[in-house]
Amino acid sequence: VDHWFEIINHEDVPSPSLLVYPQRIQSNIDSMLLMAPAARLRPHVKTHKMQEVVALCRNSGIEKFKTATIAESEMCARAGAGDILLAFQPVGPNINRLKILVEAFPQTRFSTILDNDFSSHELSCFFAHSPIDVWVDVDCGMHRTGIAPKFVPDFFARLETLPGLRVRGLHAYDGHIHAQDLAVREKEHREAMTPVLEIRSQLRSKDRTIEIVAGGTPTFPFNALLPGTECAPGTPLLWDAGYSQQYPDLPFQLAATLLCRVISNPTPNHYCLDLGHKAVASESPQPRLWLPQIPDAELVGHSEEHLVIRTALNLKIGTALYAFPKHICPTCALYDEAVAVFNNLASTRWKIHRGRALKE
Ligand SMILES: Cc1ncc(COP(=O)(O)O)c(C=O)c1O
Repeated sequence: VDHWFEIINHEDVPSPSLLVYPQRIQSNIDSMLLMAPAARLRPHVKTHKMQEVVALCRNSGIEKFKTATIAESEMCARAGAGDILLAFQPVGPNINRLKILVEAFPQTRFSTILDNDFSSHELSCFFAHSPIDVWVDVDCGMHRTGIAPKFVPDFFARLETLPGLRVRGLHAYDGHIHAQDLAVREKEHREAMTPVLEIRSQLRSKDRTIEIVAGGTPTFPFNALLPGTECAPGTPLLWDAGYSQQYPDLPFQLAATLLCRVISNPTPNHYCLDLGHKAVASESPQPRLWLPQIPDAELVGHSEEHLVIRTALNLKIGTALYAFPKHICPTCALYDEAVAVFNNLASTRWKIHRGRALKE
């Protein structure tokens, strides 16, 4: 294994810590740009929640971003993003919070998604005097949010009668598609997106373009080939052990890891690391991380602050180790900041906007 991730000054970095590698993040942005031009990319910031990553995207010409929380939206606006889609239908007090945010950043084009008449009327009331862009959330098979394609034309027409809402297009997230086999994934993507594209053709007219924002990472290569479609992958920015194993066809590099240390050696083969489930995303079964320096590591116990592994290797207490999370997005959300590593040197700290409060 190429130990590109090791830092020279690890004595200066407490554990557990999240390390990010800006040069590799840049290379992931470059790879995304080889797949789709900047104008057709809307990377999801929920993966990293970091202003500096938004800045790297903007320096590469990417101006559109997708968010899942008001705090992420505010972070993007502060980073100067030109176009922010809050892809999470606002309800209750979050509608007013969105309005406050929109008013605080008049240079930014905000939008959100809608899938029902109740929410449409609520949003319409709040934005009656200064309209907001909205996307119809289409359920293309995941059955998490959205409405079935056949109901979209009527809903679309009803939205167009409401003050305060400017219908911009369709939002279709196909998070139910995760086949490893490229041909199977492509077939499932075609099945999911064909009805969405048909609805777009029905709605489109001479003087009305309908934009589509589609998918995440697994179907990014296929959405990238659909004209008039924006792509919204998030994970490629940092990449993770889960996606790198599941999608070897995708060209991205690991750009984040966790620094941890051996804290105890209770039996000759058992070692305890300071990487409990409060330090690495643990919504999935083990293995939740990959330890490239310990190829025979068996993960035998995981509690709040402790991770117990079994290995034939001889490790000293205090040894610094690197662990690649299976799922980077919820892992980032466990840290207040990441340590940016340049040329194997841990240097600046980047704030992770993991809270939910609006600063304004
Ligand atoms: C609505 C939406 N869009 C885009 C994404 C990004 O997908 P990925 O994590 O595969 O990059 C997600 C991920 O959960 C999502 O929920």
